[in-house]
Amino acid sequence: MMTRDRIPLAGVIGSPVAHSKSPRIFRHWLNRFDVRGHYIPMDVAETDLEAAIRVLPRLGFVGVNVTIPHKEHVLEIADLVSEQAAVTGSANTLVFRDDGTIHADSTDGHGFLANLCSNVPDWEPGQGPAAVLGAGGAARAVVASLLKAGAGEVRLSNRTRARSEALRREFGARIRVYDWNEAGAMLKGARTVVNATSLGMAGHDALQVPLDGLSRDAVVSDLVYVPLETELLAQARRIGCQTVDGLGMLLFQAAPGFERWFGIAPHVDDQLRQAVLS
Ligand code: ATR
Repeated sequence: MMTRDRIPLAGVIGSPVAHSKSPRIFRHWLNRFDVRGHYIPMDVAETDLEAAIRVLPRLGFVGVNVTIPHKEHVLEIADLVSEQAAVTGSANTLVFRDDGTIHADSTDGHGFLANLCSNVPDWEPGQGPAAVLGAGGAARAVVASLLKAGAGEVRLSNRTRARSEALRREFGARIRVYDWNEAGAMLKGARTVVNATSLGMAGHDALQVPLDGLSRDAVVSDLVYVPLETELLAQARRIGCQTVDGLGMLLFQAAPGFERWFGIAPHVDDQLRQAVLS
């Protein structure tokens, strides 16, 4: 248990973790709000994960973020799993409680929606079908949050169709599955379009879904944030769509952890974006 005069510690656990932008986000907020605390990146191997997490509260940690490849495994380690983490199938935020228990939560869906709403204030999930490219862990968080927010229809297209079918079985009839080679057709009439694949990321293959069906009323969002303006967003912008980049999701998903660990609800603003990009 933490004693009152201990400096609160938090951090991010992953492997590798050197690329993580979370330390920059938290450093910015700790400085900005003049909080006496630290945020530390920790590269932890799978085999050490449980032992590392169990010891952290005793070292003064109030919680940690969890990133690839541990986001699913931590659900088995936590004493309490939030509904959001259970639905998402992974956790990115652990809170170490005073009673010694570990609480796992997922803020990815919140980050996705908060980013969308902040950039396009009149966006509403009920405006029309949503189309999601991908069916991995990130897509799952996006789909769960869209459904929870009230989307009537969520279309899914993934290279490996079985993964989209599995999401349909789990989330029900509001999901419509399209073949990967029908991804272009899936965009027709969609009001919200999300790339939740790794395609378009620097060093990865290009996303080659034809956009001719895309309406200029659609809001197009990419979870990829390197580059900040992906080819998908650039093309959508040329069509006249409102576009939302993936960096904002990363910033918004971090906010609930900061609030729970350090007791202050932080702002996501341009200063933070610049601090993370610099
Ligand atoms: P994350 O947790 O970040 O979503 P993931 O579970 O590995 O990571 O999912 C990556 C997504 O990008 C998947 O939808 C994947 O498609 P598959 O399920 O078929 O693997 C998609 N993806 C990655 N590389 C791809 C490629 N070259 N072509 C099409 N889709 C690709």
